[in-house]
Amino acid sequence: MWRYLALIAIMLAVVSAYNVRLSTADDYTTRFKTWMVEHNKMYHEEEEFYLRLSNFIRNIHSIEKMNRQYGRTATFGLNKFSDLSLDEFKKHYLMPNYKPKARVTKETFNYPSNIPATLDWRTKGYVTPVKNQLMCGSCWAFSATEQIETANIMAGGQVEYLSEQQIVDCDPYDGGCGGGDPYTAYQYVQNNGGLTLNVTYPYTAANGACYANSTAPAVQVTAFGYASSQGNETQLREAMAARGPLSICVNAEPWMSYQSGIFSSTCSDDLDHCVQIVGYDTDATSKTPYFIVRNSWGTDWGLLGYIYIQAGSNLCGITNEVTYVSVHPDSSNTVNYHKMH
Ligand SMILES: *[C@@H]1O[C@H](CO)[C@@H](O)[C@H](O)[C@H]1NC(C)=O
Ligand SMILES: *[C@@H]1O[C@H](CO)[C@@H](O)[C@H](O)[C@H]1NC(C)=O
Ligand SMILES: *[C@@H]1O[C@H](CO)[C@@H](O)[C@H](O)[C@H]1NC(C)=O
Repeated sequence: MWRYLALIAIMLAVVSAYNVRLSTADDYTTRFKTWMVEHNKMYHEEEEFYLRLSNFIRNIHSIEKMNRQYGRTATFGLNKFSDLSLDEFKKHYLMPNYKPKARVTKETFNYPSNIPATLDWRTKGYVTPVKNQLMCGSCWAFSATEQIETANIMAGGQVEYLSEQQIVDCDPYDGGCGGGDPYTAYQYVQNNGGLTLNVTYPYTAANGACYANSTAPAVQVTAFGYASSQGNETQLREAMAARGPLSICVNAEPWMSYQSGIFSSTCSDDLDHCVQIVGYDTDATSKTPYFIVRNSWGTDWGLLGYIYIQAGSNLCGITNEVTYVSVHPDSSNTVNYHKMH
């Protein structure tokens, strides 16, 4: 406990140096206890409480800094991750030890260049609801599954929720909760002869032994590939206009405390997270162009589960691994599908 108290005292000194209003340890403890109630958190050991409190204070400090530097377009704030250290956040929600492969040039097909000024595929019903990967580095399996669900709807299939867990457990090319790549996830689904429904093979947020049957697949993958070249946002927009939503991999380390607005903060292009891009737009007031990105950290993160990423500089490596998938929709399944509308 004394170790943490000393740490907290040092952090308070650092924080106060930046702040006009000096905060006391009591202020932080009160805020932390309020946050604990809001997020239904309990710590059984005193040591754990002080460790979490010191992470919380460090996060407040970093949130204030982000808001000072990038608050013109975006807001950062406390959320369900606020008692984690950055290392814990990376370990549990990103893929620090797995590198999705960036793609320098797209495959050879040409998209029409007359694209709409704004695009949001959610309005067409092509995007399933925001999911929650929980404490497991399975973003890549979610990204691939979301992309297969979208392709199924676009191919005329019923709205179906497919099994991320089947990919986590059964894909031999990737690392389950340790990380992976949507491209090889499509490869697995194609080889297997399909991806089943999530009601048949439910999500557990843990690695498990594969129990998929190739006899009862719901949706079959017919083709997949890279849809855009690294660094080329024009191509990314054209690919989205031509093909619909796309799977992307990004660097998401600075997304931890994102709340709303257009994210324009410093971000590397070291890919450690995979998500789905569903459109683009330009903010009417600030004239900032941005991409609309669906995350898999639940609807209680960001903008109801989404983040807007500033366009124009390949921020977070947004163009570095863009993939599409085509499917043969399942028409046989009439029992287990869920209608969105
Ligand atoms: C299947 O996915 C849908 C949409 O994400 C979710 O609402 C539902 O709870 C999931 N079902 C199971 C059994 O995991
Ligand atoms: C696999 O097949 C068995 C026997 O038909 C069935 O009980 C089981 O639910 C199936 N599992 C999946 C994931 O489809
Ligand atoms: C980016 O993509 C566009 C559209 O496909 C293409 O015309 C342009 O040459 C590409 N730019 C670079 C630098 O490759």
